[in-house]
Amino acid sequence: MEVLIRPDTDSAARLTAEVIKRDLEKKPNLVIGLATGRTMEIVYGKLAEMHRKQNLDFSLARTFNLDEYIGLAPGNEGSYRYYMNQHLFNNVNLDLRNTHLPDGMAKDPSAEAVNYEKLMKEAGGIDLQLLGIGRSGHIGFNEPLSAFFSRTRVKALTPTTIQQNQGLFKNPEDMPRRAFTMGVGTILDAKKIVLLATGKEKASIIAKAVEGPVTSMISATALQLHAKTVVILDEDAASDLKEKDYYRWIFDNEPEWLDFH
Ligand code: F6R
Repeated sequence: MEVLIRPDTDSAARLTAEVIKRDLEKKPNLVIGLATGRTMEIVYGKLAEMHRKQNLDFSLARTFNLDEYIGLAPGNEGSYRYYMNQHLFNNVNLDLRNTHLPDGMAKDPSAEAVNYEKLMKEAGGIDLQLLGIGRSGHIGFNEPLSAFFSRTRVKALTPTTIQQNQGLFKNPEDMPRRAFTMGVGTILDAKKIVLLATGKEKASIIAKAVEGPVTSMISATALQLHAKTVVILDEDAASDLKEKDYYRWIFDNEPEWLDFH
């Protein structure tokens, strides 16, 4: 795991977008695992700008989102399909047929989950997985005690997550209590992972995820077992890390981290 600390949220998001850009330029049909949430909005804004100003080409890229709420149709403003359309898909030249999210309205959720795994496999697996981290330590919606070998399935959301995300719904009571999520095992299968966390409210969970003991109580600690994970932080999110001077030294002195393929 590499930990890269940037001075502020904007430069942390820019670095995240740069990693995606570099990989996409190397492999135009890159399979990208996508996350939603407040943290990613700025990253998607930067990717859209790179598309507009630097002709960053998404025409052959394929995407799979980490999660989707159960019971929300794609047109619902609270759904992650809606979020992705707003923040990324409508603003770059992605072919919508190459974008995938689990269907929150699926009649048979177990079959939908199995099919989602099948589609990822047929695409050749995720090349680059983008992650945020929840206050519960979740990646995707892998709430505490998610098995490290888990695959895409339906998870019940914890009160911490409900509290974290309710504010994004016009009526907080409309937030579903369950969601499809890629499993921890699905995420660990990605060839490369980039986790972005910003802001003081993520400092304590980041310290546990990066430097704490590996435990299924904090799904993000599973990333310590992954061979190619980079954690990009702003100073606020990095503030509780014990070894932050070491991580800063790496960024300044070992620029080859960018080629951690
Ligand atoms: C969203 C997802 C979640 C978020 C996490 C952080 O697709 O998978 O794990 O990344 O809850 O959300 P924000 O960025 O809103 O703090």
